[in-house]
Order: sequence, then structure tokens, then C-alpha cells
Amino acid sequence: MAPTPSTHTATTPPRRHPTTTPVPWWRRPWILPLALFSVTFLLYSVPPYLSLDPADSRLPLPESPSWYFPMLLTHIFGGALLTLLVVLQVWPWLRTRHPAVHRWSGRVYVWSGIPLVGIPALLIAPFSGTGGSAQIGNTVWALLWSAFTLLGYVMARRRRFAEHRDWMLRSFALIYGIAFNRVLLIVLMVIMSPRLETVHGGDFDALGQDVGVASGFLSWVLPLLFVEWWLKYRRRSRRERNPTPTA
Ligand code: HEM
Repeated sequence: MAPTPSTHTATTPPRRHPTTTPVPWWRRPWILPLALFSVTFLLYSVPPYLSLDPADSRLPLPESPSWYFPMLLTHIFGGALLTLLVVLQVWPWLRTRHPAVHRWSGRVYVWSGIPLVGIPALLIAPFSGTGGSAQIGNTVWALLWSAFTLLGYVMARRRRFAEHRDWMLRSFALIYGIAFNRVLLIVLMVIMSPRLETVHGGDFDALGQDVGVASGFLSWVLPLLFVEWWLKYRRRSRRERNPTPTA
């Protein structure tokens, strides 16, 4: 017998983004610290670039290409928008109570993020004034972010929401790399400074450069590893709660 139009077979993908019962904000206590952390990071990182004057840049700027600084500014202002959008995207209350807002801010995340953050990052990364290691690391970081973000979008379009969520969490982990970098720089400085004399011969600039290279890589690799661990942990605990019945 042919299935009636209302029959939902096992292979039929859900038409709508799966929503669950709204979760009160106090059951997800991390959303407030995440929002505060994001705003604090932006208030510290973005103001030097609001003057649009290369002399105020915190980053050592390469002499060429001439478009490096405009591209960096585009990247930073786009990055500020994306940092705020991530908070909206991962907020369970908003996702469940206002799925349309989640969908629209997700579209803005992808379609402003690729041209304003991903492509400028890819263009400026090979010219980083902070050396070859940063050039390689930043290029890989930008490539991975662009790939994860596009994969997340494609999965949502195909209604494969579990995969959409996994790819988007990886994308968010990489977006937070820059904010995590600020924290990691301080932590690594504290860890490494007792070795200032023995390893860097008392040269504080050499210590700063070493720490900068290490934090440049670790600041996006560690959040990504954390997300991978969390996704595995969540899958395992779901399997344990709902074991597949054996035939
Ligand atoms: C996957 C995401 C991101 C990638 C791949 C990326 C990549 C880059 C690259 C390649 C540079 C130039 C570094 C250099 O020349 O040494 C840079 C600088 C910068 N980016 Fe991003 N970025 C990302 C996300 C963000 C976000 C979300 C913000 C938020 C505002 C941001 C703000 C900045 C700032 C302020 C700088 C100037 C240097 C500094 O003050 O640390 N980036 N980024």
C-alpha cells in the first residue's frame, strides 16, 4: 500500500529545524559568561581600529601589499559582528523560542562571515608581519573556518540538522580562537617567564615572540579539540541512554 502523504517514513528528513522544550537561561549558566567574555574581548580589541589609522594598529603591519590594512579593517569589523552572532546562535532559549531569529542570524553569520571575515583572513594571512609560522598557521585556520562554516550551511539546507550542528560548533570554536588568544597569551607568559634567563637569555622581546607563535596556533587548535571531545562525549552518552535494540 502506498504511504499516505502524511506518513513520515524513517528516511524522510524533518522539514523544520528540530526544536525542543525551551530551556530556562539558568539551566544553561554558560550563556551569560560567554556574552560577557565576548563583549569584553570586543571592547578591548576593536577600538584601536576605529580611527582607521594604520598607526593605531596593534599588529605590526607589512609594508606591502597596500590593500593589507583595508582588508584587515574589513576582517576586524566583520569579526566583531560574528562574535556577537555566535552568542545568539548558541543561546538555547532563543533557538527554541524563536527559531526564525536563529535561522536569519545564521544566514547573516554565513553570508557576511565568508566575504567579510574568511576571505579577508585568507588574503592577509600570507603577508603577516609576525613571521612565517603565523602566516602558515593563520592560513590553515582561515581555510578550516571557511570550510566548516560552508559545510554547516550545506547540512542545514539538506535538513541534516545533527551534522549542521556539529559543523557549526566547529566553526564557532574557530571564531573564538582570536578571543581565546588574549587569555592564552597571558597564561603562556606566566608559564614561560620563569625561563626568561635560561631560554631567552633575558631578552623579553624574544620571549614575547615565542609566546606569540605558540598562542597563535594553540588558540584555535585547543577550542577545536575541545569541541571534538565534547561531540564524541555527547554521542556516547546518547548511545548509552538510548541503546539500539538488537534483533
Ligand atoms: C576563523 C576566524 C578568524 C581567522 C581565521 C582570523 C585570521 C586573522 C588573520 C590572518 C589576521 C592577521 C594576523 C597577522 O597578520 O599576523 C587577523 C588579525 C586580527 N583579527 Fe582575526 N581571524 C578570525 C576571527 C576574528 C574575529 C572573530 C575577530 C573579532 C573582532 C578578529 C579580530 C582580529 C583582530 C583585532 C586582528 C588584528 C590583530 C590583533 O589585534 O590581534 N578575528 N585575524
